[in-house]
Amino acid sequence: MDRLKGKTALITGAGSGIGRAGAMLFAREGAAVVVAEINPDSGERVAARIRDAGGRSLFVRTDVGDSESVRNTVAHAEETFGGVDILFTNAADVPLINLRDACATDLDEEVFDRIHRVILRGVFLCAKYAGQAMIRRGGGAMVFTGTVDAQIGCPGLDAYTAAKGGVLAMTRSLAAGLARYHIRVNAISPGFVATEPQAVFMDDPVSREQIQALHLLPVPPPEDVVPLALFLASDEARGITGSIHQVDAGYAAFKCAHIDVMESINRPSREREAHGRCESPPSS
Ligand SMILES: NC(=O)c1ccc[n+]([C@@H]2O[C@H](COP(=O)([O-])OP(=O)(O)OC[C@H]3O[C@@H](n4cnc5c(N)ncnc54)[C@H](O)[C@@H]3O)[C@@H](O)[C@H]2O)c1
Repeated sequence: MDRLKGKTALITGAGSGIGRAGAMLFAREGAAVVVAEINPDSGERVAARIRDAGGRSLFVRTDVGDSESVRNTVAHAEETFGGVDILFTNAADVPLINLRDACATDLDEEVFDRIHRVILRGVFLCAKYAGQAMIRRGGGAMVFTGTVDAQIGCPGLDAYTAAKGGVLAMTRSLAAGLARYHIRVNAISPGFVATEPQAVFMDDPVSREQIQALHLLPVPPPEDVVPLALFLASDEARGITGSIHQVDAGYAAFKCAHIDVMESINRPSREREAHGRCESPPSS
């Protein structure tokens, strides 16, 4: 309890999945939470749940790919809670990635741009404007959610892995640039996480078995991923910056040479027909 007492956390994509689990956990640990989410229903629901539980939270409708929207969210955080101490980035259009990402040779350019707009440009804009607020505040901590797929490669996810790879690269250079302002920057890299948009795979027995086979431990719920983000966001991690931390149930620890990943996942059949040339597992 109280590991984030007195701090304000701006969490993107906090209406669902890892972002929502982070919002609930950070609030329980004493942070005021700004729920920065594009979906007003889910965003307001999370902020209300935090307030109902006695915490402090504000939903601000945010499109992380839009500069004005991100500036507005940071301004609301400063007005309402006095500043931004923590940025935890999770926003992603996971259904778009799962359905439309592909090998570069088959990838629509518009899909590539849409994925990069939310994931890489989104993290850039949030780091820029939340970072400026942290400089005004005298310090802070950023935690970016990456993916092991950007570290070990994954067929059929070229837009997603490139965008997340950019986020992981920026983690290091930004940490170097912001250390003088007492701002730490780290990333977490999950494997597969059982969040809502992944239910389409986890609810299918064949896909579920294949996904599980890629991990050493049970595929985790988002609640098992966010304690690492909490630690990195807290002052307990005061000596850690510029690093990427796997929270992947063993996904990256061994090579699944016996698993043909490209063939293994049961994508919905209509998608397989539509994107038959370059099948991929769901994003992680
Ligand atoms: N679930 C996994 O298997 C997994 C694995 C590794 C990494 N990740 C990463 O974790 C993060 C969260 O994934 P999740 O599974 O919790 O997804 P999710 O769909 O449950 O949550 C993502 C949230 O982002 C919001 N969002 C989408 N576009 C937005 C925008 N432009 N501005 C603001 N919000 C926007 C969505 O509305 C949604 O609420 C993503 O960055 C994802 O790439 C997920």
